[in-house]
Amino acid sequence: MTALSVRDIGISFGGVKAVDSVSFDVEEGSIFSIIGPNGAGKTTLFNLISGVYLPKAGTVSLFGEDVTGVAPNRLVARGLSRTFQNLQIFFRMTVAENVMVGRHLKEARGIVPHLLSLPSVVRQNRDSRTEAIRLLDRIGLAGRADDLAANLPYGELKRLEIARALATEPKILLLDEPAAGCNPKETEDIERLIEAIAADGVTVVLVEHDMRLVMRISNRLHVLDYGKTLASGTAEDVRTNPEVIKAYLGTHGAEEAARARR
Ligand SMILES: Nc1ncnc2c1ncn2[C@@H]1O[C@H](COP(=O)(O)OP(=O)(O)O)[C@@H](O)[C@H]1O
Ligand SMILES: [Mg+2]
Repeated sequence: MTALSVRDIGISFGGVKAVDSVSFDVEEGSIFSIIGPNGAGKTTLFNLISGVYLPKAGTVSLFGEDVTGVAPNRLVARGLSRTFQNLQIFFRMTVAENVMVGRHLKEARGIVPHLLSLPSVVRQNRDSRTEAIRLLDRIGLAGRADDLAANLPYGELKRLEIARALATEPKILLLDEPAAGCNPKETEDIERLIEAIAADGVTVVLVEHDMRLVMRISNRLHVLDYGKTLASGTAEDVRTNPEVIKAYLGTHGAEEAARARR
């Protein structure tokens, strides 16, 4: 089944076509990567899919249902969650609380029950902490649940963001540069985590510059350049496409991609 379908989507900023008539389908449970040079439109595409921007043209469908123009919080309720290119961590909250924020996004019932401290709210908080610890265990951070997020190293913060996105129980997870700024060990941890998420049946759409990572884990790739589709296909199709090599991979990137071959 197709989890996510994007058709002829586009948006312009001040006359610049940041995303220009882009189309692709993402198969349920797969890892689908969007690559391209800086400024190619990858983050803008995520903003269009996740309802942050309203497309000027085109449609977005989740599991066959048109969700074009649906607001971000409603998309979360329909099973779409994302992380951001720049860390969005609440540094003065604990690690567990950062994850619980994600859960509350899904369960938000309004402020009144909270003000009254209704038993249902007390129960909800206890359940969401239990669930947060379970998710932290998955990313290897259960032991740091009560530490301030500010005390975590960078690589763990990147994983914490993914745990928070998972707290909304997504069917589709959009990850914008999850390994950016990570060292090789941290990148490996992220790689394993993404593979585990996909193995659980969650569809992953990945934007990432680390070509080794992308080429190893993606079922399919979609290459953007100046907002337009340059190529799409398997890692092998993309890595050997002369247009892609010219526009993006360059000599260095192509070597790196070739090394990533298993
Ligand atoms: N909110 C915005 N206002 C104006 N221009 C934007 C905005 N968001 C993105 N852009 C422009 O759109 C293009 C694509 O940006 P972006 O999607 O961030 O690229 P990428 O994530 O591939 O590096 C760039 O030229 C960028 O300057
Ligand atoms: Mg970006």
